[in-house]
Amino acid sequence: MGLSRRKFLHRIGAVGGYGAAYSVMTTLGLMAVPAKAAPLQLPATLGAGKRVVVLGGGIAGLVATYELERAGFKVTLLEARDRLGGRNWTLRNGSKVEMVGEADQTVSFSEGLYMNAGPARIPSHHQGLLGYCDKLGVPLEVEVNASRSALIWSEGSNGGQPIQMRQGVSDTRGHISELLAKAIRKGALDQELTAADREKLLPFLRFYGDLDESMAFKGSERSGMTQLPGAGPQLSVKRTPLSLKDLLANEQLRQTLFEEQLVQQATMFQPVGGMDRIPAAFERAIKSPVIRNAEVLKIRQAPAAVTVAWLDRASGAERTTRADFAIVTIPLNILAGIDSNFDPAVKAAIADVPFGYSNKIGFDAPRFWEQQQIYGGISWVGGETNMVWYPSNGMHAARGMLLACYASGDVAKSLAARPMAEQIAIAKTAVGHLHPGHAGDLSRPAVVNWSKIPFNLGPWPAWVGSGRASEGSMVDAGFRLLNAPHGRVYFSGAHLSQLPSWQEGAVSAAQRTLGLIAARVSQSAATGGGRPAAPA
Ligand code: FAD
Ligand code: ALA
Repeated sequence: MGLSRRKFLHRIGAVGGYGAAYSVMTTLGLMAVPAKAAPLQLPATLGAGKRVVVLGGGIAGLVATYELERAGFKVTLLEARDRLGGRNWTLRNGSKVEMVGEADQTVSFSEGLYMNAGPARIPSHHQGLLGYCDKLGVPLEVEVNASRSALIWSEGSNGGQPIQMRQGVSDTRGHISELLAKAIRKGALDQELTAADREKLLPFLRFYGDLDESMAFKGSERSGMTQLPGAGPQLSVKRTPLSLKDLLANEQLRQTLFEEQLVQQATMFQPVGGMDRIPAAFERAIKSPVIRNAEVLKIRQAPAAVTVAWLDRASGAERTTRADFAIVTIPLNILAGIDSNFDPAVKAAIADVPFGYSNKIGFDAPRFWEQQQIYGGISWVGGETNMVWYPSNGMHAARGMLLACYASGDVAKSLAARPMAEQIAIAKTAVGHLHPGHAGDLSRPAVVNWSKIPFNLGPWPAWVGSGRASEGSMVDAGFRLLNAPHGRVYFSGAHLSQLPSWQEGAVSAAQRTLGLIAARVSQSAATGGGRPAAPA
C-alpha cells in the first residue's frame, strides 16, 4: 500500500521541515520552480541504512552524490576517467587529449591560458547550477558572450571584408525600419493597423531604425564611426551604411540575433580559472568514496540489491559494488555497450538514442583582436568551424586562448572526419578571413572532436537530428521510459532533461532523480516494505 502524495509530503515536512517538503515538491514537479532555486534540501536522516552507487562523475553524478550524502545515504561514486567533471573539462598546459583513432595530444598553452573543451558559459537563469557555484564557493566572472565589435564574414559578401557586428545589427534595422515606414505611409498596412497605432508606430520606427526626418535610413552612429568624437573640435563621423543587398549577402547576418536566444543572453557567467572549478568544488565538498578509473562493465539488479562490476583501470583488477539503488548517469550511447539485465524495452530505448557531433579547436595567440577593440564575444564565419570565440578573461595580457572553431551537427561531423592537421589549417584560414594577416599568429593548437572522446563519444543526444519532436521530448516513448525508475535502477543525466546540452540539464535531472528516490525511501519506511517499485 502506498502513501498518498499528501501524506508523503506531510511526512517529509515532519522530518525535514518546510524546506525539505518544498524542495521535494519542486523536484517532483508539483510546484512551479522558483525564480531563484533554493538548494535541494532532503532530510538529513532520509537515507539512513540505504546504500546508493552513482555511476558517472559528471555534473549529474556529482550533484547526486553530494545531495545523497547530505541526506544520510551511504554513497559510492564510480567514474571511468582519472578526473571528475565528465563533459565539464578544462584544458591547460600539460593536459592530455585522447581521441579514438587519433594521436594523443599534450596541450602546451602558455602558463595561465585554458580552454573549456566542453561547457564554457552559464546563463543567469540556470539557477540550479549557479546555486551550487554559490553554495560551494566557486568564484564567477562575466562571460562576454556577444560583442558589437566582433565580426561576421561570409564568402563573397562585402568584397570579402568582414562586417562589424554593430554595423550588421544597426544597418539591417535601419533598412527594415525605412521599408516598414514606407509601407505604412503608402497605406499598405491600413488593414492591419488602426490610424492611432500608425501614428504611434511611425515615430517609434524613426527611433528604432535611427531614420532621418524624411524617414530614410542614411546611416547611424550606432553602426560605428570612421572618426570617433575627440578633443577640441574633433567631431564624430559616422560610417557610410552598407546596402541591404550587401547585408543580406552575408550568410552570417542571422548571427546578429544569436544573443536574442534566452540561453545566450547577458548576463552570462564563467568560473574564474576554468569551468572545471565546479567539479573541483564538488570534490572538495564530497566525503563519500569517489573512485576514479572505475569503468563500469556490468550492471545486475536482483530483488535484494543492485550489483555493479567495474574495472579498476589503474590496476586492471575487476571489482564489484553492491547497493540498494543505482543512479546511472553514463551517457546513453556508452551505456548501450555495457552489459546489464535491464528489460529488453529499456535496453532498446537506450540503444535508440543517437548522439551528435561537436568540435572545439583552441590556439595560443597574441591578443591581436584587442587592437580591433574586441574584448570577448564571438565572430561568425560559418562553414565547418562556424565561429571564433574570444576570451572573456586576461584582458590586455600578452597572450590569450583563441577558440578558432566551435561547431556542432553536420558541419562538425564533416570536420571531424578530416585529419587533425587539416582541421587545424581550416581553423587558421577562418581566423585569417576575419583578421587578415593573423592566421600565422596562432600556435599550440588543441583539437577536441567530441565524437571521438572516450566515455562520451558525442557531445549530447541528437534528438532533433533524428527527427524527434524536440530536444528530449517527453512525447517520445523511449525518453519517458528512461525517466521512470526501473527496479532499483534510476537513469539520470543531462540527456534526461529538456536541456541536454547544458549543465543545468544535468543538475535538474539529478535533482529530479533524488526526488524520486526520496519519495521511494520515505514510502517504504512508512509501509515497512523494501521491495523495489515495478518498472513504470
Ligand atoms: P557527463 O558529463 O557526460 O558525465 C557522465 C560521466 O560518466 C562522465 O564523467 C564519464 O566519464 C562517465 N562514464 C562514462 N562511461 C562510464 C563507465 N563505463 N563507467 C563509469 N563512468 C563512466 N553546458 C553548459 O552549461 N554551458 C555550455 O556552454 C555548454 N557547452 C557545451 C559545449 C560542448 C562542446 C559540450 C560537449 C557540452 C556543453 N555543455 C554546456 C553541456 C554540458 O557539458 C553537459 O550537459 C553536462 O556537463 C552533462 O553532465 P552529465 O553529468 O549529465 O554527463
Ligand atoms: N550549451 C551549449 C553552448 O552554449 C550548446 O555552447
